[in-house]
Amino acid sequence: MNRIAVYPGSFDPITKGHEDLIHRSLGFVDRIVVGVAVNVAKQPLFSFEERVALIRECVADKRVEVQSFDGLLVDFAKRVGATVIIRGLRAVSDFEYEFQMALMNRNLGPQIETIFLVPAFDLTYLSSSLVREVARFGGDVSALVHPAVQQALKRKFAK
Ligand code: PNS
Repeated sequence: MNRIAVYPGSFDPITKGHEDLIHRSLGFVDRIVVGVAVNVAKQPLFSFEERVALIRECVADKRVEVQSFDGLLVDFAKRVGATVIIRGLRAVSDFEYEFQMALMNRNLGPQIETIFLVPAFDLTYLSSSLVREVARFGGDVSALVHPAVQQALKRKFAK
């Protein structure tokens, strides 16, 4: 059986927390399609093309594919043949939003299950927004992101 999961998000930029969840998911699915949301409500630092390219650089595994998507997540999941949506839960503060989203997605696509994964303990405090903020003010993000992302952040904030 070819079990496909979608791992959606803004990935602005991908962090080691996201990488950790991708690797954990490969323990129970055959293929992961990382879905980079084009129209995120917030103004992203990286364009969706840049976010997709960075994920491809960070995750070199032939079971992982990266695509951007516009519109509803469940429609994207159906299009790529996924039966599972992967989301990370870091803290209680994530829970309400994630719970609402999972129920809405179930309402829109009852055949697709959301699975929540807990990241590695030392990555639970990590978020793309914190990484952007630390990098913006010249802080060291080398433990938090892949070297390709670190370089991309340096280039962004050098402008
Ligand atoms: O990393 P993020 O920003 O928390 O990811 C949120 C994302 C992109 C997964 C979510 O906003 C989403 O699924 N957007 C697509 C539009 C959609 O389907 N909205 C209804 C979900 S309840």
